Formats: sequence, C-alpha cells, structure tokens
Amino acid sequence: MVVKLLNKPLTDSVVNHQPIGVFDSGMGGLSVLREIHHLLPFEDLIYIADSKYAPYGDQSADYVRQRANQIADFLLEQQIKVLVVACNTATADAVDALRDRFNIPIVGLEPAIKPAVNVSKTGVIGVLATQRTIESKRLHCLTLKHAAQTKVLAQACPGLVEKVEANHLDRYDTKQLIKQYTQPLLQQQVDTLILGCTHYLFLQDTIRQIVGEEVKIIETGKPVARQLQRILEQYKLLNASTHPATLCFYNSSHLKQHHNTMQHLWHHGIDINALSV
Ligand code: DGL
Repeated sequence: MVVKLLNKPLTDSVVNHQPIGVFDSGMGGLSVLREIHHLLPFEDLIYIADSKYAPYGDQSADYVRQRANQIADFLLEQQIKVLVVACNTATADAVDALRDRFNIPIVGLEPAIKPAVNVSKTGVIGVLATQRTIESKRLHCLTLKHAAQTKVLAQACPGLVEKVEANHLDRYDTKQLIKQYTQPLLQQQVDTLILGCTHYLFLQDTIRQIVGEEVKIIETGKPVARQLQRILEQYKLLNASTHPATLCFYNSSHLKQHHNTMQHLWHHGIDINALSV
C-alpha cells in the first residue's frame, strides 16, 4: 500500500468524527471496505463504486485521473477525514495528483510485491492485475525495489473485473479466463500469486480451485485496514464514539444488475445511493 506524509499540513477543519471515504472503479473495493469495517467498527464509512465508468484498467491514465478527481471532490464535499483509494489502478495513475490537491491523509493500494517475495520459495512470483497496473511505473519501481533477486511475472487479466461486476464469480467462462491467465505462470514455477486488483479478492475461491492449495495467494485488504488504523492514530483522527458506525453506499451506475451485485458482495441489506458525478 502507499502512504506518504501529507504534502501540506493537515487541514484544521478535519476532526475525528468525520467519515472515511473509500472508492474503487466498482465493487472491488468492497473487499477492502469489509476489512476496514471489521478492524475499525466505529468509523463511519462512505463507499463509492464507479461501476458506470469501470473498468478503469482498459482506459487511459487521463481517464482514470479524471474519474478519481471527480469522485474525490464529491467525497471531500461529504467532509471526509481520510481518503482510501481502494483500487490499484487508480492508485497507480491518480494518487500523486490527489495528494497534490488535498491536504487530508490518502491511503492507496499497490500490488504486495514485498510480502510475496518474502514468502516465495521458488523465487518466482506472479502478479495478476489490470493492464494499466501491469504497465504502470509504480509496479515497475516496486519490482526494482523489492524483487531484485526474484522473477516477477506480471499478467494482465482483461475481462476479470467485468466478471465480478456481473457477479459471475465462479461461472464456466470466468474459470476459463482465470485458467488462461494463471496456467502460463504455473508452468514457469510461480509459487506465489499476488492479487493486484481489489476485484480479484472476490474471485479468490475460484482462483484457489484452479491453482491448487500449494500456491500462496497474497492480497492487500487486511494490511490496508491496519495501515489506515495507524494513520488515524498518527493524526489523532480515530473516532472516539462507540456507537455503531454509519455506512453509506453510492454507485455511479443505475443498472439493477450492478446494485444486485453490490448487495450480494456486501452480504447485508444496504441502500445504494445514486452518484451523479
Ligand atoms: N479494483 C480495481 C483495481 O484494483 C479495478 C480497476 C478496473 O476497473 O479495471 O485495480
């Protein structure tokens, strides 16, 4: 994950009872939200799924930055105290620009190269991510920094985000796509697979069935929640309330199918508000 000290001093108006804003190109970030809510049950959360404009991973960097800026503007209007970019692709393309614009802490996500290097025995690890993340300078730098002695096989997985958005988590064609992306990696002795896209967390059981029990699967939801907790402590922004948190959900897509997927992946009855930015 990416956390940096603020470029500017924390704005005075930010106080601890304000909500935390979390966004993703779609439902993938719910996997991160789940961990945040579990670890920090008294924090009010606002989640934005940008399903109308997903997938980000097949688009240009400018497109991703523009969406990230518009969503962040909306969340800042809702008086958030911290922003979590629960999307590897948006982090790669937009987190620096967001940090230049806003003086609240911003937590981003990036493929967990270092933890994967630490557990790999074969010295060959695989990264499953979107095309934009695979081609990103951020992944390149992470690999240079943490994996000098490790072979890193980066595999773009077009089509998988759409399978999650459609709630096709274990259908035949989803499995075929996963096989297509993982078999070449397994043939090259990969023993550790990084899920470098938050949507793929929802495919973890299906990926496990396909790659077998021996391959280690590394994800970033829990570490991000812990990092967020440290940031809240550092800036004295932990919510002191012990009332159950309020969770507020938005989706830019008005399609019933997207709302159904969101309900299904969150597991609880939720109201989904329309986002019109
Ligand atoms: N969940 C996003 C990520 O982590 C998916 C990006 C996309 O929409 O392609 O990268």
